[in-house]
Amino acid sequence: MSPADVPALLTAGLLEGGAHALRLGAPEALPWLQGQERVTFARVGVVDPRDPDDYVDHGGMRGLGRALAMEPSDVVAEVTASGLRGRGGAAFPSGIKLRTVLDTPADQKYVVCNADEGDSGSFADRMLMEGDPFLLIEGMAIAGWAAGANDGFVYIRSEYPDAIATMRSAIAAAETRGWLTGPGATGGVLGSDFVFRVHLRVGAGAYICGEETALMESIEGRRGVVRAKPPLPAIQGLWGKPTVINNVLSLAALPSVLAHGAGFYAALGHERSRGTQVVQLAGNVARGGIVEVPFGVTVRQIVEQWGGGTASGRPVRTVQVGGPLGAYLPPEQFDLPLDYEAFNAAGALLGHGSIVVFDDTVDMAGMARFAMEFCAAESCGKCTPCRIGSTRGVELIDKIAAGVEREKNIDVLLDLCEVMADASLCAMGGFTPLPVRSALRHFTDDFHRTATDATDLTDPNGATV
Ligand SMILES: Cc1cc2nc3c(=O)[nH]c(=O)nc-3n(C[C@H](O)[C@H](O)[C@H](O)COP(=O)(O)O)c2cc1C
Ligand code: SF4
Repeated sequence: MSPADVPALLTAGLLEGGAHALRLGAPEALPWLQGQERVTFARVGVVDPRDPDDYVDHGGMRGLGRALAMEPSDVVAEVTASGLRGRGGAAFPSGIKLRTVLDTPADQKYVVCNADEGDSGSFADRMLMEGDPFLLIEGMAIAGWAAGANDGFVYIRSEYPDAIATMRSAIAAAETRGWLTGPGATGGVLGSDFVFRVHLRVGAGAYICGEETALMESIEGRRGVVRAKPPLPAIQGLWGKPTVINNVLSLAALPSVLAHGAGFYAALGHERSRGTQVVQLAGNVARGGIVEVPFGVTVRQIVEQWGGGTASGRPVRTVQVGGPLGAYLPPEQFDLPLDYEAFNAAGALLGHGSIVVFDDTVDMAGMARFAMEFCAAESCGKCTPCRIGSTRGVELIDKIAAGVEREKNIDVLLDLCEVMADASLCAMGGFTPLPVRSALRHFTDDFHRTATDATDLTDPNGATV
């Protein structure tokens, strides 16, 4: 809706429940919102996000209260038993990360919340911060207690002004309430001795600043360039200190794990992917938005049952799952369950859980080109396969589309993908081959469409291209 719709809605009796074409009704009355398992998003859309009392009235702060009554090591054991894995893309077990930081001796440790959310089609971090910011603050405090960290940083991209404003006001309210230690204060969290401060940092919006080591470079005031690993951030992270760095949704899952117990969380899910996945539906889809479901639900269910197919009404040709570095799935793969291992086995990536839908008018050679172009634009430049390979990839796809020595150039492109996948320093260059290879494998015809077989094309210097 737009602001211009508001007077008509009010005239129609919006506040009294009056009928209007734009008034869809209560969420319980909408069939396509049913069948979800809202754990992380249980309060979003229900509470006033800036009101700490509303948060407590809806079950907030119970997880932190229970955690502070436990030994840090027991909190880590609870998180490990829940089966929680990182939601930022790599699906690394959260308990192991906490354990590593807890067991690494240091005078200072940090918790960093990765709220850079650069993936195309992703918006769950933003919605969580705008809709339930205290949940993230509570999750960060639990992580701080478990790992022995007294300072936390939330790193948010500058394109998220509402999330930044909401987080700022929530941090201030939490400090006033004694849920966090305020600037200059020495008091502990919830009346305990545990001092925990949360600071907010705004990034300029480079995709690579979502990569954990580049993000820490950025917080430290340098250009976002990837650091070689090891050492892992859990051993030497922010300012060289042991650091728990987690995605917004990983940290926001901790209060539920602690409040309801590891068993509650571990009971949801599929195989080694436990708990819920917050799926973000975008692109050419009839009903875009967030759907929170246990792992194990299939891509087809998400796209058809919740998404309602394409917005254009044309057949779905493909979906890209997991952001710009994710594979394109053809309809034959739509029965894949949301499960990290199942996706890996299919040469795909679940990533941060975004699903971008395309109808049958999409040109997949163009999408493969876009993947290489995106990598060329966003590469931090530190390693050759990514920095130079991506530009060569764009050129190769242009030649293939123009019909220049097509078969030979497809072979070179596949060879280039292998080099990028095997030799890139981080997943930026390492995963860019996923969308390219999947487009080539499943939509081969699109690379042969403009067959001019113009092997006699010449460049401006007269050499054969
Ligand atoms: C190019 C690139 C971009 C990334 N962007 C994000 C991001 O925006 N948000 C995020 O949480 N993780 C992102 N990651 C993953 C992080 O490096 C890291 O794995 C994550 O923050 C760890 O948190 P988790 O264990 O909770 O998933 C990115 C990784 C790469 C290689
Ligand atoms: S793969 Fe790309 S983004 Fe990652 S370190 Fe190498 S150049 Fe930088």
